[in-house]
Amino acid sequence: MIKSLKVRKEEYIVDCTYFSSSEFDTMKIAAELSNELCGGEIIALKGGLGMGKTCFVKGLANGLGFSGDVTSPTFAIVNEYIGGRLDLFHFDMYRITGWDDLNSTGYFEYLDAGGIVAIEWSENIEGALQNEKVIIVEIERVSDNERKISISGGDKK
Ligand SMILES: Nc1ncnc2c1ncn2[C@@H]1O[C@H](COP(=O)(O)OP(=O)(O)OP(=O)(O)O)[C@@H](O)[C@H]1O
Ligand SMILES: [Mg+2]
Repeated sequence: MIKSLKVRKEEYIVDCTYFSSSEFDTMKIAAELSNELCGGEIIALKGGLGMGKTCFVKGLANGLGFSGDVTSPTFAIVNEYIGGRLDLFHFDMYRITGWDDLNSTGYFEYLDAGGIVAIEWSENIEGALQNEKVIIVEIERVSDNERKISISGGDKK
């Protein structure tokens, strides 16, 4: 795993690029990010089909100490992972196309709940991602098993 890491925790700015060569690597990178979180962050995942977004959220959940199953909430829209250091709310916005849809998922209530909100297909709700605590995780395919993972954002005061 090659990585370059720049985290200025006091100002809450994250700017890192990682190269993952397995699901295990991707989960480890996510677990590392989970250690930086203090509640209220939105983890906006980008990347096409099968890039490893669900895998990344598994790593976040593990890193926060959640011990249950983590699965893609494609039909449920949101899964709640309670019991770790922080609550984690896992959204899949694949089917969300407008503000009414988004409202009906309870997204805005979850944002106020003080936990972490992780969003697959965050591209679909770009206009609702203006919060200063948005951390963007962009996953790109390098080869069958390799992914470039760029993490950026945070509370830029
Ligand atoms: N370095 C890697 N990190 C994560 N997954 C990888 C990696 N290399 C290969 N894979 C494979 O890519 C797939 C990722 O699946 P995952 O469900 O996490 O993707 P996803 O982005 O959530 O997909 P979807 O768009 O369907 O929600 C798995 O089959 C996994 O084995
Ligand atoms: Mg998924």
